[in-house]
Amino acid sequence: MNRPKLIAGNWKMNGSLAANEALLSALRAGLPQGAACAVAVAVPAPYLAQVQTLVSGSPIALGAQDVSQHDGGAYTGEVSAAMLRDFGARYVLVGHSERRQYHGESDADVAAKAQKALAAGITPIVCVGETLAEREAGETEHVVRRQLAAVIHANGHCISEIVVAYEPVWAIGTGRTATPEQAQQVHAVLRAQLAAATTHAARVPILYGGSMNAANAAELLAQPDIDGGLVGGASLKAQDFLQIIAAASAAQGDAATVSGVN
Ligand code: 13P
Repeated sequence: MNRPKLIAGNWKMNGSLAANEALLSALRAGLPQGAACAVAVAVPAPYLAQVQTLVSGSPIALGAQDVSQHDGGAYTGEVSAAMLRDFGARYVLVGHSERRQYHGESDADVAAKAQKALAAGITPIVCVGETLAEREAGETEHVVRRQLAAVIHANGHCISEIVVAYEPVWAIGTGRTATPEQAQQVHAVLRAQLAAATTHAARVPILYGGSMNAANAAELLAQPDIDGGLVGGASLKAQDFLQIIAAASAAQGDAATVSGVN
């Protein structure tokens, strides 16, 4: 199946009104006409309104970095799915390893967040990934399967509407990327797990994240089950992000040719 590639930038806690404007105007100017891949940026919550305006009329979709598992009420500091929806968010990251690590988010929390996003018509980008200690202990498959299982269990027939992002924790912000083979191996495990849960598993994009950059994107994106990237540091530099988008668009074109969908 020729899944559309998706390149999503995760700005994390970076940006300012001025920097966002400069970055998005450079992205808009540099995006190829009719780029074959989908593009999104997941921005800090205070900038949703600004970025909604800055991407309007462009192919860049708006995303958020987290969502509450509650609908509303006495949850100081949290942002609901309906609020994200109000600002036109198409995507929201759930279960990023930085949320799991620094904010104690459990698999059940992540599953509940994915559920709230789906109910609001927002696509959750469900992040899974093992730590270095877990990889070295041979637990990679067990960990990512456990993390995804919680989301599958809570979301039943909607599961084909999610995006999955495999982000090995040891590759995030370290410059140490998983090899294309290492990543593909885990993506294939996740694809098989999805296939056991839904007949539509083939259409679920599985992104890779962890030190993806302009130099390594093409070979990662050439893997059969790597459907795009969740890009941190390199998404803050317009030229780097544009080069990753170009690599994804080229890989998309190649996949279309191979499967005869041209
Ligand atoms: P880096 O691309 O900076 O390694 O970050 C990856 C990430 O965590 C994206 O969500």
